[in-house]
Amino acid sequence: MASPFRSLVEDESRYNKSFNLFLERSSEHQCMQDFIHGVLPEIFEKIGKGKSSLNVIGVGSGAGQIDLQMFSQMRLKLPGITVSNEVVEPSGDMLFKYKVLVSKTPNLEYINFTWNKMTASEFETHWKEKKLDKKFDFIHMIQMLYYVKDPDATVSFFRSLLSDSGKLVIILVSGQSGWGKLWKTYRAELCNTEISQCVTTGDIRTFLDSKGIPYKSYLLPSQMDITESFTEGDEKGELLLDFLTEVIDFSKNASPTLKAGVMALLRHPDCSSEVDGKVIFNNNLEVLVVEP
Ligand SMILES: C[S@@+](CC[C@H](N)C(=O)[O-])C[C@H]1O[C@@H](n2cnc3c(N)ncnc32)[C@H](O)[C@@H]1O
Repeated sequence: MASPFRSLVEDESRYNKSFNLFLERSSEHQCMQDFIHGVLPEIFEKIGKGKSSLNVIGVGSGAGQIDLQMFSQMRLKLPGITVSNEVVEPSGDMLFKYKVLVSKTPNLEYINFTWNKMTASEFETHWKEKKLDKKFDFIHMIQMLYYVKDPDATVSFFRSLLSDSGKLVIILVSGQSGWGKLWKTYRAELCNTEISQCVTTGDIRTFLDSKGIPYKSYLLPSQMDITESFTEGDEKGELLLDFLTEVIDFSKNASPTLKAGVMALLRHPDCSSEVDGKVIFNNNLEVLVVEP
């Protein structure tokens, strides 16, 4: 059954507001930074061996903060490398912020940016129409597969662009996170069927395993403070609740029964723990590093 609600992704401005608040209230980017500093340098060393330039694609890069952090680790590990970087991002607002960030960040002359204001599937069409055969050494899709119709097909297409030693890095919420529990319980009510929205790394693992595609995985422990969501009428709490449910004005639009059920599950030990009077949601992420 399709969700009866308007999805948050239909309102770019409210989505961006609630996403920014989510970043403030969670350790989302912190746990990614731990991965970027702890694990990625070794991966960069392998893919950069014997190369003077690397081809990179960022799919759904948002405002580029994470992309630039990855590049700074790449540059540290591979001094002298040059990079050709395709950014695939449909939001004009996000692309603008990414460009501003690039203009304010020193020493990025080694990267040549190509800005593709398009979705992953538009990029695929554009790539196939132009019959381009360029191969890529590093492709990442960080927290974006929720927004495509067919995540398996998206993974397959971008994986087909990898060079022999290339790697595809996927980051999504873990199937064991609070998100996984929420979506398992309320899939029919909350999940938008136009896009994959409620996909976790558990689903992608199932796909990769079924095709015998090799990959490595890393768990990134992460938390999100959702205490404000339990204060009726709190503006930020409502924005967080919209982000959690991916429904515009969930608090106003959900039936009393659904709202009560979702609120109870959000603070249930399956999804959250109570620490010093705060409700801390399990936002654990997982990284899959997929081989060519
Ligand atoms: C949750 S944000 C993640 C941004 C960034 N990767 C990060 O982790 O901070 C998801 C991004 O995917 C983009 N997006 C949405 N639909 C997309 C699609 N069909 N193809 C590619 N990117 C998409 C959004 O505009 C947004 O910038």
